[in-house]
Amino acid sequence: MKNIVILGAPGSGKGTISSFLVKNYSFQQISTGDLLREISNSTSELSSRIQAIISKGELVPDSIVAEMLEAKIIEFVQNGAKGLIFDGYPRTFAQTEMLDEIVAKQNLSITNVLELDISLKDLETRILNRYSCASCGEIYNYISKPTKINNICDKCGSHNLIKRNDDKKEVLEQRYKTYEQNIAKIKEYYSQRNLYQKIDATLTVQEIQNKVKDIIEL
Ligand code: AP5
Ligand code: MG
Repeated sequence: MKNIVILGAPGSGKGTISSFLVKNYSFQQISTGDLLREISNSTSELSSRIQAIISKGELVPDSIVAEMLEAKIIEFVQNGAKGLIFDGYPRTFAQTEMLDEIVAKQNLSITNVLELDISLKDLETRILNRYSCASCGEIYNYISKPTKINNICDKCGSHNLIKRNDDKKEVLEQRYKTYEQNIAKIKEYYSQRNLYQKIDATLTVQEIQNKVKDIIEL
Protein backbone atom coordinates (compact mmCIF):
# COMPACT_ATOMS: atom_id res chain seq x y z
CA MET A 1 0.00 0.00 0.00
CA LYS A 2 1.38 3.42 -0.99
CA ASN A 3 1.21 6.01 1.79
CA ILE A 4 2.34 9.40 0.66
CA VAL A 5 3.27 12.50 2.61
CA ILE A 6 2.83 15.78 0.75
CA LEU A 7 4.83 18.63 2.24
CA GLY A 8 4.70 22.20 1.02
CA ALA A 9 4.23 25.79 2.09
CA PRO A 10 0.70 27.27 2.26
CA GLY A 11 -0.74 27.41 -1.25
CA SER A 12 1.97 25.23 -2.80
CA GLY A 13 -0.72 22.89 -4.19
CA LYS A 14 -0.96 20.07 -1.63
CA GLY A 15 -4.75 19.94 -1.79
CA THR A 16 -4.79 20.19 -5.58
CA ILE A 17 -2.45 17.23 -6.13
CA SER A 18 -4.16 15.23 -3.38
CA SER A 19 -7.53 15.62 -5.06
CA PHE A 20 -6.03 14.40 -8.37
CA LEU A 21 -4.71 11.26 -6.64
CA VAL A 22 -8.03 10.66 -4.90
CA LYS A 23 -10.03 11.10 -8.11
CA ASN A 24 -7.83 9.02 -10.40
CA TYR A 25 -6.09 6.47 -8.19
CA SER A 26 -8.47 5.81 -5.29
CA PHE A 27 -6.24 7.23 -2.58
CA GLN A 28 -7.81 8.47 0.65
CA GLN A 29 -6.73 11.98 1.59
CA ILE A 30 -6.11 13.08 5.15
CA SER A 31 -5.80 16.87 5.25
CA THR A 32 -5.18 17.96 8.83
CA GLY A 33 -6.08 21.52 7.79
CA ASP A 34 -9.51 20.38 6.51
CA LEU A 35 -10.10 18.29 9.64
CA LEU A 36 -9.16 21.20 11.90
CA ARG A 37 -11.41 23.59 9.96
CA GLU A 38 -14.27 21.12 10.43
CA ILE A 39 -13.70 21.22 14.20
CA SER A 40 -13.33 24.99 14.23
CA ASN A 41 -16.72 25.33 12.48
CA SER A 42 -18.41 22.95 14.89
CA THR A 43 -19.81 23.65 18.35
CA SER A 44 -17.25 21.48 20.15
CA GLU A 45 -15.35 22.92 23.10
CA LEU A 46 -12.14 22.92 21.07
CA SER A 47 -13.60 24.97 18.23
CA SER A 48 -12.79 28.52 19.39
CA ARG A 49 -9.28 27.52 20.50
CA ILE A 50 -8.52 25.98 17.10
CA GLN A 51 -10.12 28.86 15.23
CA ALA A 52 -7.89 31.34 17.07
CA ILE A 53 -4.72 29.37 16.26
CA ILE A 54 -5.56 28.95 12.55
CA SER A 55 -6.48 32.60 12.12
CA LYS A 56 -3.02 33.58 13.41
CA GLY A 57 -1.24 31.14 11.10
CA GLU A 58 0.24 29.18 13.98
CA LEU A 59 0.23 25.44 14.64
CA VAL A 60 -2.38 23.52 16.59
CA PRO A 61 -0.72 21.46 19.39
CA ASP A 62 0.77 18.16 18.23
CA SER A 63 -1.31 16.07 20.66
CA ILE A 64 -4.65 17.37 19.33
CA VAL A 65 -3.64 16.79 15.72
CA ALA A 66 -2.20 13.32 16.40
CA GLU A 67 -5.42 12.10 18.02
CA MET A 68 -7.51 13.37 15.11
CA LEU A 69 -5.11 11.89 12.57
CA GLU A 70 -5.02 8.47 14.17
CA ALA A 71 -8.82 8.26 14.26
CA LYS A 72 -8.97 9.06 10.55
CA ILE A 73 -6.27 6.52 9.65
CA ILE A 74 -8.10 3.80 11.56
CA GLU A 75 -11.37 4.69 9.82
CA PHE A 76 -9.79 4.52 6.35
CA VAL A 77 -7.88 1.31 7.06
CA GLN A 78 -11.02 -0.39 8.40
CA ASN A 79 -12.84 0.66 5.23
CA GLY A 80 -10.18 -1.02 3.08
CA ALA A 81 -8.20 2.03 1.87
CA LYS A 82 -5.85 1.32 -1.06
CA GLY A 83 -3.46 4.14 -0.18
CA LEU A 84 -3.27 7.17 2.09
CA ILE A 85 -2.22 10.73 1.38
CA PHE A 86 -1.07 12.91 4.25
CA ASP A 87 -1.78 16.49 3.14
CA GLY A 88 -0.20 18.96 5.54
CA TYR A 89 1.03 16.43 8.08
CA PRO A 90 3.68 16.29 9.52
CA ARG A 91 4.49 19.95 10.24
CA THR A 92 6.90 19.56 13.14
CA PHE A 93 9.70 17.13 13.83
CA ALA A 94 7.65 15.61 16.68
CA GLN A 95 4.77 15.00 14.26
CA THR A 96 7.19 13.30 11.86
CA GLU A 97 8.13 10.72 14.47
CA MET A 98 4.51 10.41 15.65
CA LEU A 99 3.34 9.64 12.11
CA ASP A 100 5.71 6.69 11.83
CA GLU A 101 4.44 5.37 15.15
CA ILE A 102 0.78 5.84 14.28
CA VAL A 103 1.00 4.13 10.88
CA ALA A 104 3.14 1.30 12.31
CA LYS A 105 0.25 0.43 14.65
CA GLN A 106 -1.77 -0.35 11.50
CA ASN A 107 1.16 -2.31 9.99
CA LEU A 108 1.75 0.48 7.48
CA SER A 109 4.69 2.69 6.59
CA ILE A 110 5.30 5.90 4.67
CA THR A 111 6.38 5.03 1.12
CA ASN A 112 7.02 8.48 -0.46
CA VAL A 113 7.50 12.03 0.71
CA LEU A 114 7.04 14.83 -1.81
CA GLU A 115 7.76 18.49 -1.14
CA LEU A 116 6.10 21.07 -3.38
CA ASP A 117 8.72 23.79 -3.63
CA ILE A 118 7.74 27.43 -4.28
CA SER A 119 8.69 30.94 -3.10
CA LEU A 120 6.57 33.20 -0.88
CA LYS A 121 6.20 35.72 -3.73
CA ASP A 122 4.57 33.11 -6.01
CA LEU A 123 2.38 31.86 -3.16
CA GLU A 124 0.77 35.23 -2.53
CA THR A 125 -0.94 35.30 -5.92
CA ARG A 126 -2.21 31.77 -5.41
CA ILE A 127 -3.51 32.22 -1.91
CA LEU A 128 -5.16 35.59 -2.48
CA ASN A 129 -6.96 34.20 -5.53
CA ARG A 130 -8.02 30.88 -4.05
CA TYR A 131 -11.61 29.94 -3.33
CA SER A 132 -13.28 26.59 -2.83
CA CYS A 133 -16.60 24.81 -2.71
CA ALA A 134 -17.98 24.57 0.83
CA SER A 135 -20.07 21.56 -0.17
CA CYS A 136 -17.55 19.21 -1.83
CA GLY A 137 -14.20 20.89 -1.10
CA GLU A 138 -13.14 21.37 -4.75
CA ILE A 139 -10.37 23.99 -4.94
CA TYR A 140 -10.50 26.90 -7.44
CA ASN A 141 -8.45 29.95 -8.32
CA TYR A 142 -9.64 33.20 -9.94
CA ILE A 143 -6.55 33.19 -12.17
CA SER A 144 -5.43 29.61 -12.80
CA LYS A 145 -8.63 27.62 -12.27
CA PRO A 146 -11.92 29.54 -12.22
CA THR A 147 -15.24 27.66 -12.19
CA LYS A 148 -16.57 27.10 -15.71
CA ILE A 149 -19.81 28.88 -14.83
CA ASN A 150 -19.54 31.90 -12.56
CA ASN A 151 -20.33 31.02 -8.92
CA ILE A 152 -21.27 27.38 -9.53
CA CYS A 153 -19.01 24.50 -8.50
CA ASP A 154 -17.97 22.43 -11.57
CA LYS A 155 -17.92 19.26 -9.51
CA CYS A 156 -21.14 19.30 -7.48
CA GLY A 157 -23.17 22.27 -8.77
CA SER A 158 -23.25 24.05 -5.41
CA HIS A 159 -23.43 27.88 -5.25
CA ASN A 160 -21.66 27.83 -1.91
CA LEU A 161 -18.19 29.02 -2.95
CA ILE A 162 -16.09 30.41 -0.12
CA LYS A 163 -12.75 31.97 0.76
CA ARG A 164 -10.74 30.83 3.77
CA ASN A 165 -10.39 33.16 6.78
CA ASP A 166 -6.63 32.59 6.91
CA ASP A 167 -6.07 33.49 3.24
CA LYS A 168 -4.97 37.05 4.00
CA LYS A 169 -1.55 38.54 3.25
CA GLU A 170 -0.50 39.00 6.91
CA VAL A 171 -1.66 35.52 7.95
CA LEU A 172 -0.02 33.96 4.90
CA GLU A 173 3.30 35.51 5.92
CA GLN A 174 3.00 33.94 9.38
CA ARG A 175 1.94 30.57 7.91
CA TYR A 176 4.97 30.68 5.60
CA LYS A 177 7.28 31.57 8.49
CA THR A 178 5.91 28.67 10.54
CA TYR A 179 6.59 26.34 7.61
CA GLU A 180 10.14 27.60 7.09
CA GLN A 181 10.92 27.18 10.80
CA ASN A 182 10.00 23.50 10.78
CA ILE A 183 10.69 22.04 7.36
CA ALA A 184 14.49 21.54 7.54
CA LYS A 185 14.38 18.83 10.22
CA ILE A 186 11.43 17.06 8.58
CA LYS A 187 13.27 17.05 5.24
CA GLU A 188 16.40 15.69 6.86
CA TYR A 189 14.45 12.88 8.57
CA TYR A 190 12.88 11.69 5.32
CA SER A 191 16.03 12.23 3.22
CA GLN A 192 17.96 9.93 5.56
CA ARG A 193 15.33 7.28 4.88
CA ASN A 194 15.52 7.84 1.10
CA LEU A 195 11.86 8.81 0.93
CA TYR A 196 12.14 12.53 0.15
CA GLN A 197 11.73 14.12 -3.28
CA LYS A 198 11.34 17.78 -4.18
CA ILE A 199 9.00 18.94 -6.96
CA ASP A 200 9.02 22.37 -8.58
CA ALA A 201 5.58 23.65 -7.58
CA THR A 202 5.67 26.55 -10.06
CA LEU A 203 5.02 24.10 -12.90
CA THR A 204 1.50 23.72 -14.27
CA VAL A 205 -0.90 21.44 -12.44
CA GLN A 206 -0.70 18.96 -15.34
CA GLU A 207 3.12 18.90 -15.24
CA ILE A 208 3.10 18.35 -11.49
CA GLN A 209 0.59 15.52 -11.85
CA ASN A 210 2.87 13.82 -14.39
CA LYS A 211 5.91 14.16 -12.15
CA VAL A 212 4.02 12.74 -9.18
CA LYS A 213 2.76 9.82 -11.25
CA ASP A 214 6.36 9.02 -12.29
CA ILE A 215 7.77 9.32 -8.78
CA ILE A 216 5.20 7.16 -7.09
CA GLU A 217 4.98 4.80 -10.07
CA LEU A 218 1.28 5.02 -10.83
P1 AP5 B 1 -3.85 23.78 5.69
O1 AP5 B 1 -5.27 23.79 5.38
O2 AP5 B 1 -3.09 22.54 5.47
O3 AP5 B 1 -3.17 24.99 4.95
P2 AP5 B 1 -1.73 25.21 4.30
O4 AP5 B 1 -0.68 24.26 4.66
O5 AP5 B 1 -1.44 26.63 4.60
O6 AP5 B 1 -1.95 24.89 2.81
P3 AP5 B 1 -3.15 25.35 1.90
O7 AP5 B 1 -4.32 24.45 2.11
O8 AP5 B 1 -3.37 26.82 2.11
O9 AP5 B 1 -2.54 25.19 0.46
P4 AP5 B 1 -2.34 23.90 -0.44
O10 AP5 B 1 -0.90 23.57 -0.45
O11 AP5 B 1 -3.31 22.84 -0.10
O12 AP5 B 1 -2.67 24.51 -1.87
P5 AP5 B 1 -3.97 24.34 -2.82
O13 AP5 B 1 -3.93 23.04 -3.51
O14 AP5 B 1 -5.22 24.73 -2.13
O15 AP5 B 1 -3.65 24.22 7.23
C1 AP5 B 1 -4.32 25.37 7.72
C2 AP5 B 1 -3.95 25.60 9.17
O16 AP5 B 1 -4.38 24.49 9.97
C3 AP5 B 1 -2.45 25.76 9.47
O17 AP5 B 1 -2.00 27.06 9.27
C4 AP5 B 1 -2.43 25.36 10.97
O18 AP5 B 1 -2.89 26.40 11.76
C5 AP5 B 1 -3.44 24.23 11.01
N1 AP5 B 1 -2.83 22.91 10.76
C6 AP5 B 1 -2.98 22.12 9.65
N2 AP5 B 1 -2.28 21.00 9.73
C7 AP5 B 1 -1.65 21.05 10.93
C8 AP5 B 1 -0.75 20.19 11.58
N3 AP5 B 1 -0.33 19.04 11.00
N4 AP5 B 1 -0.28 20.56 12.81
C9 AP5 B 1 -0.68 21.70 13.39
N5 AP5 B 1 -1.53 22.58 12.82
C10 AP5 B 1 -2.00 22.26 11.60
O19 AP5 B 1 -3.63 25.45 -3.93
C11 AP5 B 1 -3.62 26.84 -3.60
C12 AP5 B 1 -4.17 27.66 -4.79
O20 AP5 B 1 -3.27 27.58 -5.87
C13 AP5 B 1 -5.53 27.14 -5.34
O21 AP5 B 1 -6.31 28.23 -5.74
C14 AP5 B 1 -5.14 26.27 -6.55
O22 AP5 B 1 -6.16 26.24 -7.54
C15 AP5 B 1 -3.88 26.98 -7.04
N6 AP5 B 1 -2.88 26.06 -7.59
C16 AP5 B 1 -2.50 24.85 -7.10
N7 AP5 B 1 -1.50 24.32 -7.84
C17 AP5 B 1 -1.25 25.22 -8.83
C18 AP5 B 1 -0.33 25.26 -9.91
N8 AP5 B 1 0.56 24.26 -10.13
N9 AP5 B 1 -0.33 26.34 -10.73
C19 AP5 B 1 -1.20 27.37 -10.50
N10 AP5 B 1 -2.10 27.41 -9.51
C20 AP5 B 1 -2.12 26.34 -8.67
MG1 MG C 1 -4.75 22.58 1.46
